[in-house]
Amino acid sequence: MRFLTAGESHGKYLTAIISEYPSGVQIDKDYIDEQLAKRQAGFGRGTRMSIERDKVKIISGVSSGVSTGAPICLFIENLDWQNSQKRIENEKDILNPRPGHADLTGYLKYRGKSIRDVIERSSARETAARVAVGGFAGLLLGQFGVSTAGFTEQIGTISIDLKSSPGEEMNPAKQKKIFEAAEKSILRCPDKKAEQKMVSLIKQAAGRGDTLGGTVKIISSGIVPGLGSYIQWDQRLDSRIAAAVMSIPSVKAVGFGAGFSSGKISGTSFHDEIFYEKSRGFYRKQNNAGGIEGGMSNGQNIEITAAVKPIPTTNAGLKTVNIKSKETEISLKERSDVCAVPAVSVIAAAAVNIELANAYQYKFGADNIVEMTDNFNNYKRYLDNI
Ligand SMILES: Cc1cc2nc3c(=O)[nH]c(=O)nc-3n(C[C@H](O)[C@H](O)[C@H](O)COP(=O)(O)O)c2cc1C
Repeated sequence: MRFLTAGESHGKYLTAIISEYPSGVQIDKDYIDEQLAKRQAGFGRGTRMSIERDKVKIISGVSSGVSTGAPICLFIENLDWQNSQKRIENEKDILNPRPGHADLTGYLKYRGKSIRDVIERSSARETAARVAVGGFAGLLLGQFGVSTAGFTEQIGTISIDLKSSPGEEMNPAKQKKIFEAAEKSILRCPDKKAEQKMVSLIKQAAGRGDTLGGTVKIISSGIVPGLGSYIQWDQRLDSRIAAAVMSIPSVKAVGFGAGFSSGKISGTSFHDEIFYEKSRGFYRKQNNAGGIEGGMSNGQNIEITAAVKPIPTTNAGLKTVNIKSKETEISLKERSDVCAVPAVSVIAAAAVNIELANAYQYKFGADNIVEMTDNFNNYKRYLDNI
């Protein structure tokens, strides 16, 4: 499954084309729209998200609610296009690049007239299209019992406390509780106490014209062992997932399992010892590896943490240089989010699903859901009887 996106932040539409999506998958448009709505939500987002009502329009590749195997073309309307078209046409050239954004380098690279051209495509509005593509991936993975979701783990200096022991793999009951709490939270934060502190931190940051970042956690469960491979560098599942998550604007680090703490733990504590029971097969009692060993899924949850830098557009402004006059100026101020960490947890879950859907297709076939399911069941039988 391959895809490309197109569209500008204030253009009429965002669009994506997905190719090599298997035929025979029931396409639940409401599920995709739900993911889009989750991406839009979150305390700390700017007024833009109260204008948009993201809904996917499926133009091709789906007939009577079922995928046909033909390329899927999808659109998401930018309602703000109506309001901004004239304003953008008549605005003066923008020449004061925001540190931390694509502005200066994009201007130098594409030889534009105004930073506006850079802003329009480098904006994270593009990720709405990716979340829609992730929705298709999620529907495919659902056929194989895989589910992926994300939550906010940290905003600024405030972290959640899930009362977990180091390396613990969440059991399904705990996981369910955490995700239910995250779904109810205005910050996708499963810890109510931390959520309240995060809200006041965001208010304080907004009050002084500042912005915040944080970290998100993504968990995929129901994964079979053996997705991805060590035989070639580009087939390693962790490297593919890391690249997909890293490609989300503002993500600065991606970790699996113990992630950045891995180097602090000795080998005899870090590695997830192997046990066997007839009813469970091979299993582990902890998950420092984050569900991936040797570039392959090992059957445990795939657990990822991503670090998100603070939003570059700040009301307080940052020192910059006017590209033409070379005078010191204050960076561009546009209507902007103060904190987009909760949205990143939704986008990253979509990115992970896209890579997992690819890995399932690579292992079990890519043309149609019938063959994929037969191959999958055959593999499961093999694993059950080993
Ligand atoms: C969902 C989401 C919303 C964002 N909203 C804004 C915003 O309103 N203003 C802004 O300056 N940056 C925003 N960003 C961050 C920028 O897109 C990001 O910092 C920029 O693209 C450069 O990031 P990079 O260096 O990781 O590519 C947002 C990011 C995401 C994921």
